[in-house]
Amino acid sequence: MVEAQIERLIAEAYAAKEKAYIPYSGFAVGAALLGKSGKIYRGCNIENAAYSPTNCAERTAVFKAVSEGELEFVGIAIAGDGDDYLSPCGVCRQVLREFAEPESFEVIMAGKNCDYRKMTLAQLLPVSFSKSDLEMD
Ligand code: THU
Repeated sequence: MVEAQIERLIAEAYAAKEKAYIPYSGFAVGAALLGKSGKIYRGCNIENAAYSPTNCAERTAVFKAVSEGELEFVGIAIAGDGDDYLSPCGVCRQVLREFAEPESFEVIMAGKNCDYRKMTLAQLLPVSFSKSDLEMD
């Protein structure tokens, strides 16, 4: 992604954060996922009284996109209220892995009082498990 795309995606992630449903943690997260079609899918975290059904912002964005037929992605921006950049949890890294090319998919981690941090999914989830590991021949 070029700088202008990254800045746009970060702005979309902050806008997505405003919809976070967070009665338990009070910790709002927003994500913006860029599809290869050029469409941006927003996601926020959605918590649950039983706690474990909580869905992270990143997964909300992925599931929205896939449910609308988009299966290939360029990158994702993630934003929270913390001063430091927000790093995606392990479950979300694995969900992104299902639909991303790890070496090229870019994860943009934003923070309020810091510059963003950019890493590939391969850097965040090395030696990952994917559908190719299920091919038993
Ligand atoms: N959360 C996300 O939405 N994304 C992450 O990558 C880390 C955690 C949410 C889940 C929960 O609603 C809150 O942040 C506190 O863990």
